[in-house]
Amino acid sequence: MKRIAVLTSGGDAPGMNAAIRAIVLAGHYFGLEVIGYRHGFNGLLEQEYQILQTSDVNNIIQRGGTILKSARCKPFKTDQGGQQAAANLQALEIDALIIIGGDGSFHGAVHLSRFWSGAILGLPGTIDNDINGTDATIGYYTAIDTALESIDKVRDTADAFERIFLIEVMGRHAGFIGLSAAVCSGAEQVLLPELCTEQLPELTELVAHIQTAQQIRGKCSYIMVVSENIWPGGSADLAQQLAEKTGIDCRPVILGHVQRGGSPVSLDRILASKLGAYAVEAAIGGKTGIMIGEQNQQVVEVPFSQTWDKAKSLDPYLLHIQTEMFDLVKNSH
Ligand code: F6P
Repeated sequence: MKRIAVLTSGGDAPGMNAAIRAIVLAGHYFGLEVIGYRHGFNGLLEQEYQILQTSDVNNIIQRGGTILKSARCKPFKTDQGGQQAAANLQALEIDALIIIGGDGSFHGAVHLSRFWSGAILGLPGTIDNDINGTDATIGYYTAIDTALESIDKVRDTADAFERIFLIEVMGRHAGFIGLSAAVCSGAEQVLLPELCTEQLPELTELVAHIQTAQQIRGKCSYIMVVSENIWPGGSADLAQQLAEKTGIDCRPVILGHVQRGGSPVSLDRILASKLGAYAVEAAIGGKTGIMIGEQNQQVVEVPFSQTWDKAKSLDPYLLHIQTEMFDLVKNSH
């Protein structure tokens, strides 16, 4: 093995740069040349790349985003796209490709393996944490902290005005950020996709919860964390309906892409460093078709198909304490 390549694909996540750095440093440690493809799979199609020296990864461990840029790339998903990418990898004599991204990127990895015989490895990089086979994904811990910082600030003004606030958080179709942010912020209510698989809660139920909370505690602030893509019409619509039914000011706050940015927290930097270095060693060891993840602080190798074959579950105990034990309304005996 002489030359490896790395790319970042899909939604960027804080810690992707730390992972790139780890791959470059580990690659050079083992005497490999490291190539960075730019703009995700687009870089493979366009042969847009740069040789990464160790000096290129100086002072990037603390930076959000990705120095290689990211993208979602439809043309790559076709057979023609796969063939083009394979031809470009062959032309550069790449032996192994490490893809940092989420579920869509890992599907891209498997697609590429139909056309290219080099080693393909994945690192879980997404704020959503919706990838099976790893306890956490790179970027997830930072996204929780970013959401939390905002919710704590909203709580101050919510308290001052005794208002209801709906905080919409990201997560695509998973409630990891939502649940963690709700627990950390002491939210009174949380709406997660995993809790709404059968049906959405009735508006009357949500209204009754707010009213009972106010009977128990007197007029006070009320924070509801709402995962994106749950409520038809979005959380702004839900906020309006709740305000009409309760007669209390109810404001929506959509946190949006702020959750994708910022300097990665220590846990994301450690995870990215560990998984990035290990991926290089795994590639040298002849491994392919796997994501490098972490379970119980141990690095694990997970075949790509197992990363998406079933939905990753939320921590049931965390869910229990947030929605049952810590819910004053349900425990108002
Ligand atoms: O997968 C990361 C993520 O930020 C999701 O949480 C969100 O649903 C989606 O990407 C947003 O995508 P885009 O940046 O294309 O709007």
